[in-house]
Amino acid sequence: MENILRIEASARQEGSLTRMLSTAFFEQWKQDNASFRIMVRDVGANPPPSLHASWIAAAFTPETARSREDQETLALSDRLIEEVTWADVIVMATPMYNYGMPSSLKAWLDHVVRIDKTFSFDLARGDRPLEPTLQGKQLVLLTASGEFGFEPGGINDGEDHLTPHIQSVAKYLGVSEIQHVAIEYQEFKDDRFERSKNRALQSVRELASRMSLQKKKMAA
Ligand SMILES: Cc1cc2nc3c(=O)[nH]c(=O)nc-3n(C[C@H](O)[C@H](O)[C@H](O)COP(=O)(O)O)c2cc1C
Repeated sequence: MENILRIEASARQEGSLTRMLSTAFFEQWKQDNASFRIMVRDVGANPPPSLHASWIAAAFTPETARSREDQETLALSDRLIEEVTWADVIVMATPMYNYGMPSSLKAWLDHVVRIDKTFSFDLARGDRPLEPTLQGKQLVLLTASGEFGFEPGGINDGEDHLTPHIQSVAKYLGVSEIQHVAIEYQEFKDDRFERSKNRALQSVRELASRMSLQKKKMAA
């Protein structure tokens, strides 16, 4: 049975396109393969706090030397890392805000990507001392933006700092495969937006079907 972690990063509950995509993904998965466990982490509704100096000091103190206060400081991070570790599949639904990710999602990542938990650090490895400790997870990235044309040669080529950022950091979540579905043109509310939305909904349903049936076959 698959463990799926659903991360929601839109600050909006009503009218959110990314929440619509993740809902469609789960409806389709359930229709094709009812056997999965889900955990929801809604950072849009409950943003984790930004990191502060005492968090960094606690994270870099060896586990056996941590005070009770250090342990309390890291409690939320421990919990968020447990959720990621538990997951086989991570469904991350996130808007583009100011050409990057929402600060709530960045705060979540800052709590999750942690030394001796999700990565190890060893200078004996030379110029690449960081190594992820988790592996084999699939990431389904569902995004929405008001503008469009972020692809190579597009009108906003080079302006997308959301997808590349998540691609860079995903290895520290143990992700080895990423599937991305995007809605664009939200701000234009025209035919292009309707087409982009419908295409994304179709893609997300096809993706959920493909993934869930593959898992079902593997479990049989
Ligand atoms: C605070 C804020 C910043 C935004 N910044 C951008 C941006 O830089 N580029 C863009 O294309 N769209 C931007 N948008 C539009 C959102 O990406 C778009 O509305 C998207 O649908 C939001 O996701 P949601 O529908 O799941 O809430 C921004 C929206 C908000 C609320």
